[in-house]
Amino acid sequence: MDGNGRWACDRGLPRQEGHRAGMTAVREALEGCVEAGVGILTLFAFSTENWERPEEEVLAVMGLLKYYAEKERDELRKKGIRVRILGDLDRVDEDVREAVEQIEKVTADGQRLHLNLMLSYSGRDELLRAARLLAEEAVRGRMAPDEIDQDALEEVLYTRGLPDPDLLIRTSGEFRLSNFMLWQLAYTEIHISPVLWPDFTREDLKAAVHEYQRRERRFGRVSPS
Ligand code: IPE
Ligand code: MG
Repeated sequence: MDGNGRWACDRGLPRQEGHRAGMTAVREALEGCVEAGVGILTLFAFSTENWERPEEEVLAVMGLLKYYAEKERDELRKKGIRVRILGDLDRVDEDVREAVEQIEKVTADGQRLHLNLMLSYSGRDELLRAARLLAEEAVRGRMAPDEIDQDALEEVLYTRGLPDPDLLIRTSGEFRLSNFMLWQLAYTEIHISPVLWPDFTREDLKAAVHEYQRRERRFGRVSPS
C-alpha cells in the first residue's frame, strides 16, 4: 500500500493525511475483492523498517489502525470478513495491540474474505524467526535437521496454513518487494500500478485481477501443449 506520503505531499498536506486517505483505499480493496471473488487479501500495513520513521508519523499510523480497528470491526463481521494481524506485535503499543486482537476475535467466523494485515512485519524478520523456532525444535530433540523441509518451514511462518499469494499488487509505481513475504512470493505474479495507494479504487483492483487471469503461470515448467 505505497504512496500515502506522496499523495499528501502533492496536496500540500502532512504525511499523516495521506495515511488517513489510505484507509478509504483499504475499504475499496475489500469491496473489490468481494466483487471479484478473491478469497484472501493480504495488506502490508506497516513494516519493521517503518518503525524508523519520525515518531509523529509512527504514532499517527498506529492511531489510525486503532481507530479503524475499533470503528470497522462490527461492519467487517457483518460482511463476513475475517481479519488476522500478522507480524512482530510485541513492538506494538498495548492499546493498539488490544484493538487489533479484538478485531480478530470479533471477526473470527468470517467466511467470505480473509484479510491479513501485516503489521510490524518484514520478510527477513519472519524468516529469521522461523530459523530460530526450527533450531529450538532441533535442540530440544523434537526434530532432526534433515527433517526441515519446505512444509516444516512454512509451519513456522506467520502465514502458516495460508496458500502462497497468486498476485502481488504494488502501488505508486515502485518496482521492488521492500522486504515483503520473501518466501511466499517465490512464484507470485507481480502487478505494478502507477496509482498512489489513496487513489487506488476497487476498479483498479479488479482490473489487476483481470489482467492476472490472462497470464500463463508455469512455475518453472513448460506450458502443456
Ligand atoms: C505507505 O505509504 C504506507 C506506510 C508505509 C504506512 P508511504 O508512507 O510509504 O508513502 P510514500 O512512499 O512516502 O509516498
Ligand atoms: Mg513508500
